[in-house]
Amino acid sequence: MKNIVLINASPKINEQSVSKEFLEMAGSQIDSDLFSKTFIDVRKSFLTHNLTEDFQTLAKADVMIISFPLYYFCMPGMLTRFLVDYHNYYTASENIKNHVKVYAIVNCGFPEPEINLEAVRVIKSFSQHLNAEFRFGVLIGGGPMMVATKKAPFMKKSVQKLKSAFSSIAADIQHENSTTIDSICIGVDFPFSRRLYYFMGGKGWITLARKNGLKKKDLYKKPYRLNE
Ligand SMILES: Cc1cc2nc3c(=O)[nH]c(=O)nc-3n(C[C@H](O)[C@H](O)[C@H](O)COP(=O)(O)O)c2cc1C
Repeated sequence: MKNIVLINASPKINEQSVSKEFLEMAGSQIDSDLFSKTFIDVRKSFLTHNLTEDFQTLAKADVMIISFPLYYFCMPGMLTRFLVDYHNYYTASENIKNHVKVYAIVNCGFPEPEINLEAVRVIKSFSQHLNAEFRFGVLIGGGPMMVATKKAPFMKKSVQKLKSAFSSIAADIQHENSTTIDSICIGVDFPFSRRLYYFMGGKGWITLARKNGLKKKDLYKKPYRLNE
């Protein structure tokens, strides 16, 4: 039986993770009778010092599906650390599977899914360093909104596209000699103006700042610059 390892790399621990929700959607499309599925949470792996055990799981993977949020137009630092450490483990180990397929699911706050492309390129490069085959990415724009409003009628088309993208991963896993597949981009179809979306997004940051004991003006501070 082939081993599928599904990796959630959202740094969130207590709040609901959008990346995790997408990963579970993707996992549910994979037939449990044909494949064994194991979930790894990168943040928990670091917090509970479970890295070696998780690396052993990864070393037995036939397929890796990595789901993460876009952070500053690339991947969260925690995922970079995890992949670099796994690469070191991989180069020091024998008995590692040879033909491994890798998929990326990247979601971001901005509505344009294409801005996730650079992060996907980094996963592709990581795959090459592991002698693994990067297959394709699912790039999702407006991820938090998609999850929060997934049952709303205006989101129907985007949710269908998501399901179809995840079933493409499930189908691709089953094929031995797969041809090249382009990454799949999924955005949100707004029932309102983009300007309102950005306004609401901006308000979200201010609410978060207040929760952390900061004021709106603190968001504009540049502590790394002298005399500011
Ligand atoms: C520190 C940080 C940096 C972020 N950087 C970006 C970014 O560059 N572009 C973007 O569109 N969204 C950005 N986001 C939004 C996240 O990608 C988005 O909220 C995502 O759905 C979070 O997924 P998660 O719930 O799995 O952590 C950022 C969020 C945080 C907290």
